[in-house]
Amino acid sequence: MMDQGTDLFSKFDPLIQQRQQLLDAGIEDPFSLVMEKVLSPTRAICNGRDTILLGTYNYMGMTFDPDVIDAGKQALTDFGTGTTGSRVLNGTYQGHKECEDALKEFYGMDHAMVFSTGYQANLGIISTIAGKGDYIVLDIDSHASIWDGCAMGKAEIVPFKHNDIEAMEKRLKRIPEGAGILVVLEGVYSMLGDVAPLKEMVAIAKRYGAMVLVDEAHSMGFIGENGRGVAEAEGIINDVDFVIGTFSKSVGTVGGFCVSNHPKFEIMRLVCRPYVFTASLPPSVVATAATSIRKLMHGSNKRAHLWENSRILHGGLRNLGFQLGTDTPQSAIIAVIMPDLERGAMMWEALLKEGLYVNLARPPATPANMTLLRCSLCAEHSAQEVQTILGMFERAGKIVGII
Ligand SMILES: Cc1ncc(COP(=O)(O)O)c(C=O)c1O
Repeated sequence: MMDQGTDLFSKFDPLIQQRQQLLDAGIEDPFSLVMEKVLSPTRAICNGRDTILLGTYNYMGMTFDPDVIDAGKQALTDFGTGTTGSRVLNGTYQGHKECEDALKEFYGMDHAMVFSTGYQANLGIISTIAGKGDYIVLDIDSHASIWDGCAMGKAEIVPFKHNDIEAMEKRLKRIPEGAGILVVLEGVYSMLGDVAPLKEMVAIAKRYGAMVLVDEAHSMGFIGENGRGVAEAEGIINDVDFVIGTFSKSVGTVGGFCVSNHPKFEIMRLVCRPYVFTASLPPSVVATAATSIRKLMHGSNKRAHLWENSRILHGGLRNLGFQLGTDTPQSAIIAVIMPDLERGAMMWEALLKEGLYVNLARPPATPANMTLLRCSLCAEHSAQEVQTILGMFERAGKIVGII
């Protein structure tokens, strides 16, 4: 008879139990919501109810832009549904080149490389450029795709305390002279919506001879005069060696990219495994991305309105007595800190019943074991909608006993 062996799923038992406890308490599963119909960048039908969307990262509201939709439809008609191939074989169409041209223009950089997701862009670029004997110095609150890129490569990993300039410098000081160093930072950290002190950090990194990669996933399109991100807002974009971004937020579709001025950057197309060994984005996706990126270059009115929304929601929630992730509005993400997972889930459900969708985030994705209700604003939220959202938070907060 065969040995029974160990069930490889037993390691998930604590999580299975935690989830079951929530469901047994009668709380709807916050991680399996279905949007039955999406009406606009800010509205969907969820559980049969017209719901305001406040947790989509659709910052610039490009998902229903008529020009973007038309570009996608045309590419579907002209080029078919998919490329069925890698970028380095049969998977580079005219649309991929046009998308990379749009990115080069958007960032004013020499090179752009489009990946199938932002996750793969971090995975690929980080694991390929930092190899055995090199060092990666990174913020401890970095996105999972950054950590996974580090794990996939063979470099020494040196984390430092979140947004702590001195801690970063201390780590850099200890690295043996002459070693290759990559400092990895994010413009906006997506859990709390706080911004990195990039100006100081990049200056220090350069002093220690490091190359710098900045993930601008949550700032592209919105932060900076031209929407290039926090590095642009802080006036140091030309000191950044690699900017990583995604199409799944402000651009409004799916995909990822890296832009750079490094003169040897194009070699990445041959050596970066998450670029080579996967199928390229469908023609309709790159056509929508290219059109959206070009429109974002002229999005200053939308950017101004989004800042206004962020300021009003942040101030309103604080006045209601909620504890927030940042003292001031720093981005389009406003994180509301919950006392614990159970009340976080109850609040999430109470808001959904009010007709508002936000993201429930819990450890291990969150820093310091926090449970968060993460709100991400959209440039298409009207001033009236932001007031309606504040009313919903007030009622739900009182029902659950948080305020
Ligand atoms: C900071 C950061 N980097 C990268 C990604 C990955 O982007 P994508 O959704 O394109 O895989 C995300 C998405 O959540 C992110 O928040």
